[in-house]
Amino acid sequence: MSCHKKAYITTPIYYVNDIAHIGHAYTTIIADTVARYSRMSGLDTFFLTGTDEHGQKIEEAAKSRGKSTQAYADEISATFKDLWDDFDISYDKFIRTTDADHMKGVQKAFSVMHNNGDIYKDQYKGHYCISCETFFPETQLVDGEFCPECGKPTTIVEEESYFFKLSAYQDKLLAWYNDNPDCILPKSKRNEVIRFVEGGLNDLSITRTSFDWGVKLPADLNDPKHVMYVWLDALMNYVTALGYGTDEADMDFWPARVHLIGKDILRFHAIYWPAFLMSLGLPLPKHIAAHGWWTRDGEKMSKSKGNVVNPKEVADAYGLDNFRYFMLREVPFGGDGDFSQKALIDRINSDLGNDLGNLLNRLIGMSGKYFEGKVDSSNVAKYYQTELDEVHASLEKLEPLLFDMQLHRYLEELWRPLAVANKSIDKYQPWTLMKEGKEEEAMALNGLIAAILSKVGIMLYPVMPEVCTKIASALNFKIDNNSWNAMVKGTALLETFTLEKIEPLFPRVEEPLLEQAQPKDNPSKNSENTKKEAKKSESKETEGIALIGIDQFFQTSLKVGTVVKAEEVPKSKKLLLLQVDVGEEEPRQVVAGIKEWYSADDMLDTQVCVVANLKPAKLMGYKSEGMLLAAKDENGLCMIRPEKPKTAGTPIG
Ligand code: MSP
Repeated sequence: MSCHKKAYITTPIYYVNDIAHIGHAYTTIIADTVARYSRMSGLDTFFLTGTDEHGQKIEEAAKSRGKSTQAYADEISATFKDLWDDFDISYDKFIRTTDADHMKGVQKAFSVMHNNGDIYKDQYKGHYCISCETFFPETQLVDGEFCPECGKPTTIVEEESYFFKLSAYQDKLLAWYNDNPDCILPKSKRNEVIRFVEGGLNDLSITRTSFDWGVKLPADLNDPKHVMYVWLDALMNYVTALGYGTDEADMDFWPARVHLIGKDILRFHAIYWPAFLMSLGLPLPKHIAAHGWWTRDGEKMSKSKGNVVNPKEVADAYGLDNFRYFMLREVPFGGDGDFSQKALIDRINSDLGNDLGNLLNRLIGMSGKYFEGKVDSSNVAKYYQTELDEVHASLEKLEPLLFDMQLHRYLEELWRPLAVANKSIDKYQPWTLMKEGKEEEAMALNGLIAAILSKVGIMLYPVMPEVCTKIASALNFKIDNNSWNAMVKGTALLETFTLEKIEPLFPRVEEPLLEQAQPKDNPSKNSENTKKEAKKSESKETEGIALIGIDQFFQTSLKVGTVVKAEEVPKSKKLLLLQVDVGEEEPRQVVAGIKEWYSADDMLDTQVCVVANLKPAKLMGYKSEGMLLAAKDENGLCMIRPEKPKTAGTPIG
């Protein structure tokens, strides 16, 4: 047995009635992020995922495809495993509920619960939803027939069944929720569960006789017509994967640090599962963390609508790490999220390209230009202690946010050090320092930027492993428990090194890379809509507004810029000569015809909006490498500016 602290992290096991979609990828990517962080921080980590293969739903799915149930389960289970391998998901075990060891473990659990009096046999009559694999009392049905969760018709099940005495656990469960305020995350979800349990719990039917694709009861019960209820079978995977009921070698990983799940399966995890564990005499998980639901372009995803997001297609088109970042950053954990290519592109171009990738490019550019690539951190503290303190204060806040599953806040906080770095370049202007002969200060500024990139790289690694490995190799260090200890827990900076040029990490995405989802259902209605849209755009054009597509709009690169130097163009009444920082290695020179309304002093240190991909032009002999947005009416001209300060180079769009 290892003396390291243990962390056991799980995803739900996925039903094999369908291939993986963005919802499955989301849970798995969160779990992978937590597992990677956990390993990096020195915890002995076990990360479990797998497939849920029994039950009537799977049996019917196989039948409808004319396949044997086992062959069908093998096939779909392999597609999940292949996808996670392709996504480099760092799972330690991939469990299948058709594994012999798992089935043995489930039978053992059944015997233990039966022997301690928690299981009894009776007659069951009730309404069952095959799609949700759940029984519902008549009072909960919609129109007396339909499932309250998915809306599909339920079937009446009338058969002999074994029952688990769930009702006997009501008080114990309530005591557990009360004594462990963060057993269910986010905390708001805990209240929902408490209210449900306070409403009273019925005993749970845990066997079925009307089909047989499931785990049989223990042989000594001599009741071969029963198979176990799929949720009892499935939930047990979390302990059978550690060897429960067979070779118990890994049981010292139990209890789980966190079960990651979607909100739709919270009841099974927060009520049934702890009750089963109490009955088995096993400790309860530390956290059950339920995330929200993903929609696409504001609509629920479904096969019939043809709008299901395929995670592999997205990752192939936009990059796996970018997709991971987007999913975790875009949605507060527990809330619902919407997938749209526009939102993904914005995150890539802005947060990743501009704030992170460009910072590394600027460092490569500056160190190459002034110091032949050398970065020496010796004097960082001498000149930039305030900035370092700010960075370390942010880093300290991160770990609790991650273990609290507040991943969007984790990433938000992790971007503060990047803002410190970007602002420091604008503020101290290495090109000016060099002109003034302050080489030591300029080198220290490079050291500060490199330090920030290395520390952010370590903490971003669990979310973006591939990208951060590249950043670390450019900065000549390795991301592991040692560097995490030294540079994140501690305040160490990088040793002196020579920075190599690397390919840009986040090439700008100019237009959507995937085809838009084409609604499949109700074709006549769609063509009607298309006609209506066409009519609408025609009428707008006749009003004199030429309509352009989003692609055309994306062809213009608009950026926030900071005016770092401003002077008059000699002998010109109209022109100012500005140096505008747009997040590149060096400021751009822009000649702007605004002198009638703004003096050079008015413009200095202000922010502007720059058209950044215009062909350079010469005005009064000065090269102009951009155009500023302004609005002019009869009362004069005013600049268009961001409402709040934004990092220089932030894309507008
Ligand atoms: N087999 C059960 C889990 C048993 S765990 C002991 C199951 N499988 S599932 O394949 O239907 O769903 C697995 C996970 O995917 C759930 O956590 C569910 O919340 C998640 N998602 C399915 N569709 C989703 C979205 N559209 N958005 C986000 N997650 C969703 O339930």
